[in-house]
Amino acid sequence: MNNVKSNILDEINSLKNQFNKEFDKIINISDLNQIRVNYLGRKGFVSSYFRRLGEFSVEKRPLIGNELNELKKYIEEKLKEVNKRLIQIEKTEKRYDITLPGFKRFIGKKHPLTMIMEEIKSIFSFMGFEIAEGPEIETDYYNFEALNIPPGHPARELQDTFYLTNNMLLRTHTSPVQIRIMEKTKPPIRIIAPGRVFRRDTPDATHSPIFMQVEGLYVDKNVTFAELKGIILTFARAMFGKDMKIRFRSSFFPFTEPSAEYDFLCMFCKGKGCKICKGAGWVEISGAGMVDPEVFKFVNIDPEIYSGYAFGMGVERIAMFKYQIDDIRTFYENDMRFLNQF
Ligand code: PHE
Repeated sequence: MNNVKSNILDEINSLKNQFNKEFDKIINISDLNQIRVNYLGRKGFVSSYFRRLGEFSVEKRPLIGNELNELKKYIEEKLKEVNKRLIQIEKTEKRYDITLPGFKRFIGKKHPLTMIMEEIKSIFSFMGFEIAEGPEIETDYYNFEALNIPPGHPARELQDTFYLTNNMLLRTHTSPVQIRIMEKTKPPIRIIAPGRVFRRDTPDATHSPIFMQVEGLYVDKNVTFAELKGIILTFARAMFGKDMKIRFRSSFFPFTEPSAEYDFLCMFCKGKGCKICKGAGWVEISGAGMVDPEVFKFVNIDPEIYSGYAFGMGVERIAMFKYQIDDIRTFYENDMRFLNQF
């Protein structure tokens, strides 16, 4: 009889273990209902043990009955708790349709202008130029005056400007960085200044009110125009290959004297004239020249001792030329079909 008693208590205990195992596998309300029926239902495990109580002596029944009641309470409690949690989860899931297809994630990559900019920087770094930076919101002084463009000077009209309040403006070129660097550095100075510039231009295939330039500046004793041409040619060949040719045309900038505009040979037609260069055979890159002595006066560098060259560079132009893109606006539209091609 003792054995029978310990056996039934063992059985009740292993029923509890079995319940716990199945309980851990519940993932939804229908699992839960199934387990409830199996254990607590009229024909369930717990009821079947209650029905067997009669097999045991009157003294033993209370102990076994008590054990069964404890188990029943235990199971009820655990099911109640998981029921609460499942209802909560199903409520939130109904707010989303989890059968809809997900969003495809794409792998990011560098913007073509970023890639060109990095290439330009690395070529000039290799030639000993340091990278300098200046603010995009500039003062009239740095953007114009110290570059020998006083108020009312006609050169201001070539650079339609976004004026802000208090003599501040969005820089129209990277040339103000020349002044900022020369103000606080003694020659020799050899820098490039990459960055964004702004002009009040109506966008079209070749104009964008925001674009990028790289300024170059070299100031030292005995710097010559020949060196300027040499550095531009070296850059052009590093960027586009050893067959590249360059061309300087005389021009005017208030902050360089003499001044030039420079072109790269059109790599697509080798100068014959094609769609890319619009028949010219050459692609215009930017302006350049020897730093005007008037500019040196603004930054207290003695033009009797020092000379220097400066150049600009239109980054979009180089990118358009390199990638054969015929509309500058595509760089700024953020259309993945375009950007994915590079
Ligand atoms: N800053 C001039 C421009 O924006 C280009 C330039 C730079 C010309 C340096 C001469 C020297 O067009």
